[in-house]
Amino acid sequence: MPSSTTPRSAQWFAAEGRNGFIHRSWMRNQGFADDVFDGRPVIGIANSWSELTPCNAHLRELAEAVKRGVWEAGGLPLEFPTMSLGEPLMRPTTMLFRNLMAMEVEETIRANPLDGVVLLSGCDKTTPAQLMGAASVGLPTVMLTGGPMLNGKFRGADLGSGTDVWRFHEEARAGRMSGAELAEAESCMSRSRGHCMTMGTASTMACLAEALGMQLTGAAAIPAVDARRFALAQATGRRAVGLVNEDLRPAAILTRAAFENAIRVNAALGGSTNAVVHLLALAGRLGVPLSLDDFDTLARDVPVLVDLMPSGRFLMEDFAYAGGLPAVLRELGDLLRTDVPTVTGRTIGENVDGAPRWNDEVIRTRDAPFRPAGSGTVVLRGSLCPRGAVLKISAASPRLLRHRGRALVFDRVEDYVAVCEDPDLPVDESTVLVVRNAGPRGYPGFPEVGNMPMPRVLLEAGIDDMVRISDARMSGTGYGTCVLHTAPEAAIGGPLALVRTGDWISLDAGARRLDLEVGEDELARRRAEWTPPPPAATRGWVRLYLDHVQQADEGADLDFLTGGSGDAVGRHSH
Ligand code: FES
Ligand code: MG
Repeated sequence: MPSSTTPRSAQWFAAEGRNGFIHRSWMRNQGFADDVFDGRPVIGIANSWSELTPCNAHLRELAEAVKRGVWEAGGLPLEFPTMSLGEPLMRPTTMLFRNLMAMEVEETIRANPLDGVVLLSGCDKTTPAQLMGAASVGLPTVMLTGGPMLNGKFRGADLGSGTDVWRFHEEARAGRMSGAELAEAESCMSRSRGHCMTMGTASTMACLAEALGMQLTGAAAIPAVDARRFALAQATGRRAVGLVNEDLRPAAILTRAAFENAIRVNAALGGSTNAVVHLLALAGRLGVPLSLDDFDTLARDVPVLVDLMPSGRFLMEDFAYAGGLPAVLRELGDLLRTDVPTVTGRTIGENVDGAPRWNDEVIRTRDAPFRPAGSGTVVLRGSLCPRGAVLKISAASPRLLRHRGRALVFDRVEDYVAVCEDPDLPVDESTVLVVRNAGPRGYPGFPEVGNMPMPRVLLEAGIDDMVRISDARMSGTGYGTCVLHTAPEAAIGGPLALVRTGDWISLDAGARRLDLEVGEDELARRRAEWTPPPPAATRGWVRLYLDHVQQADEGADLDFLTGGSGDAVGRHSH
C-alpha cells in the first residue's frame, strides 16, 4: 500500500543502483527535468484513442489538457495507449473483446510505476472495460469520457446516432426514402468528434460512470468539442493527484450503494440495456453483491425523466444544455443514496446540490415524468429464460407488452436476414420472431443483433414492431419490443435452443414472464435430440474466451477475472 510519503512509483524511480539507473535513464530520453523523479505522484493516463474508434479519435487532444492539470497539481503525467474497441467497425462484435481490453488495462496499470490513473474512454465498451480493469488493480482512479458528438442535423431536423440509422433503414425498405437521401444523411449524422449523441450505450455508460462517482460532476454530457470539456479534463488531471494524496480508491467509491444509484439513474435516463451486463461485470470485479433481479426491483419506482432518443425526442447536446446528469441526480433526490463518496472528494448529494435544470422538456420532474415508473429495463423470468432476460419497456410498443404468438425460429441471424425481404415469409403481426445462437458463447461474443430488422411484408402492411426474442444484445440506440440476453443461451442448451417454429410463446412484461408453452415431456424429447454447436475457435483469445465466459445474467465476464489482484509491485525485471 502506498502512503503519501512513499508512493508506489518510488519503488522504481527512487531505487538506488543499477535498477534505479535503468528506470530513470530511459525515461529521460523524453526530456524530463531531474526533479520529476523526486517522489511526486505519477499519474497514468490510460488512453483508448484510436483512429479505428472514431468515437475516441479526439482523446489525445483531451489527454494534453489532463496533463496540464496533473503538472499543475504537482504530479507527473504519463500517457499510455490501451486497447480500443470501436462499435462501427469491429467484427464480429466489440463485446467479444471487452474482457480482453479490461485485462490489458489491468495488467498495464499494475506492471508500471503508477500511483494513480486517469481513464479516457468514449465508445460503448471502452468505458466499462477501463473501469473493470482499473477496479481490479484498485489504485486511485478518475474517469473522463470523451463526450458526445454535436446533434446531427438533416433537412431541418435533428438526427440521432444509431437510432436514425435503424429508422432510415426501415424507411428505405418501405420505399419512403431514396438512396440519395440516405447518402446525404450519412454525413449529416456524425458532425463532430465524440461518441453517439443518443442515449445509447456510450452516453449511458458515461452517465453511469458519473452516477457511480467515478467522473467529475457534469462530465458525462458536455459535447466532445465544447471548450468546457477541455477545462474539465484539466480539472480531472488536477483531481487525480488529489486522489493519490488522499488515497481515495475505487473500492471506497464503487460500493453497493453506488451501484444501486447507477441502476436507478439508468432507469431515469431510459438508458441502454447494455448497462445491465456492464454493471454486473464491474460489480464482480469489486466483490460487490449485485444480481440481475436488482435491476428490476431497484428500478420499479423510478420514472423516466429524460426525453432522449431512442426512447424520446432529444439528444445529448440538448441534455447538456438542459443541465445534464447533475440535474437528473438532483431531481431523483431521495430515490438515490446521496451520502456516497465520489472522486470529487464530496458525496454525490453534495456534488449536485443546487444543480440547475434549464429545460423542463428535455429533463422532466418526478411529478410530470416523461414515462411513468417501471418504464425502463425489466427482467423477465419463465420457462424460456430460467436465468432471466431483459426488455426495455420505453423502447417497446405498449400493445405488445402482453402478447401471445407462434414462434418463427432461426438458428443464425444470417438465416433470418436472408429471408426477411421475402414476400412469402409466413408472418403476421402476432408472430414471435426467435433468433438464437447469438449469446456470449454462441455467436461468439454476444453481438448487438437482437433488434432484428422487421420482415418486409409487415413493414409494407404498416406494422413497424413485433415481439423479437434472442440471446443477443441490442444497441443502446435501438428500439422495438426486443427480448434480449435470454439465459441460459441456446449454445449451451438453454430452453431457447429447444423452441420450434409454430410453438406458442407468451410474454407478459407486467408480470415479468416469458414462457414457452411446450410440455415437459416434449421438451425432454427435444433436449435429448439437441447437440451443441461446434466451438467457434480452437486457439487464441477466442478459445480462452469460450472456455471461461459467463452467462449474461452474470455480466459475461470471464470466470477467472472476477475480483481483483491489487496493486502490489512485481519483482524486478532486470
Ligand atoms: Fe461509438 Fe456509438 S459507435 S459510441
Ligand atoms: Mg452502441
